[in-house]
Amino acid sequence: MKLNRRNFIGKTILATAGSLIGFKYTYAQKTLIYKGKKNKPVVISTWNHGLKANEAAWEILKNKGRALDAVEKGVMAIEADPDILSVGLGGLPDRDGYVTLDASIMDETGNAGSVSFLQHIVHPISVARLVMEKTPHVMLAGEGALQFALLNGFKKENLLTPKAKKAWEKWKKEAKYKPIINIENHDTIGMLALDADGNLSGACTTSGLAYKMHGRVGDSPIIGAGIYVDNEVGAAVATGMGELVMKTLGSFLIVEFMRNGLSPQQACEKAINRIKQKLPNYKNFQIGYLALNKTGETGAYSLHKGFNYAKYDKKNNRMIEVDYLLK
Ligand code: GLY
Repeated sequence: MKLNRRNFIGKTILATAGSLIGFKYTYAQKTLIYKGKKNKPVVISTWNHGLKANEAAWEILKNKGRALDAVEKGVMAIEADPDILSVGLGGLPDRDGYVTLDASIMDETGNAGSVSFLQHIVHPISVARLVMEKTPHVMLAGEGALQFALLNGFKKENLLTPKAKKAWEKWKKEAKYKPIINIENHDTIGMLALDADGNLSGACTTSGLAYKMHGRVGDSPIIGAGIYVDNEVGAAVATGMGELVMKTLGSFLIVEFMRNGLSPQQACEKAINRIKQKLPNYKNFQIGYLALNKTGETGAYSLHKGFNYAKYDKKNNRMIEVDYLLK
């Protein structure tokens, strides 16, 4: 990394001060010093559907647009895709046949909005953004979220596609309430972006666990669990079995680990290890974490094999296979 004179002097002063007062010269301090070079803009998002979401987000980021607009537009492309069975239109229903959606969004000012248990609306992420921007609240749920969406011009639609209905009817024959590890490569779309101005935002949207109990809400709309953004430090999103993420407040934890000096990769690994330490049944479920810091560095880690994410930066839009704990 190229250092200019001011950065070099800053580095020397900080390193000297650090050794005098006895703190370790950490990764976080290094990234604060190496201000000159950042990987921006950059956008990352969960699973194979992340490639398509990144394309939509990049249209905004490449024109020096705001990260918040990029993450909203990015995940909207997946919400509107009827062939993706875990998000928005075409999402698999709960065990009673209702498609219920969760979504959340955070901007560079620390503002947050979310919706949970929302039905009939193709773009819950845009309703979450309106909750953030137009109300004094962070979360609206169920009927209230729907009323708010309709009042703001969203259209009521049937989200249960013939494909999802067929899958639910097949499941109903046995109706085993047994969450499966998401190794089939479909779940929440979580997206994080750093824009050309160096600002971070994140978005997360899902139909949640397939055939869940009616009324079940996962981690995705819970700020700090499914998503967290701190523009001074970095951002994180989660995918997989939301209950484990909620019990360990995974995304907030990752951002705090980064604040304390860990790289995005180290922070994701530590948060997955926290699940191992705290939750005895962790082996039965999949969890994947993604993180992005203020310099545009990314990281990811999961419990089981099979998690991947898409990354789009100056180089290109590509899939990255993620390392995992349970080998
Ligand atoms: N991570 C999505 C959910 O558990 O609902």
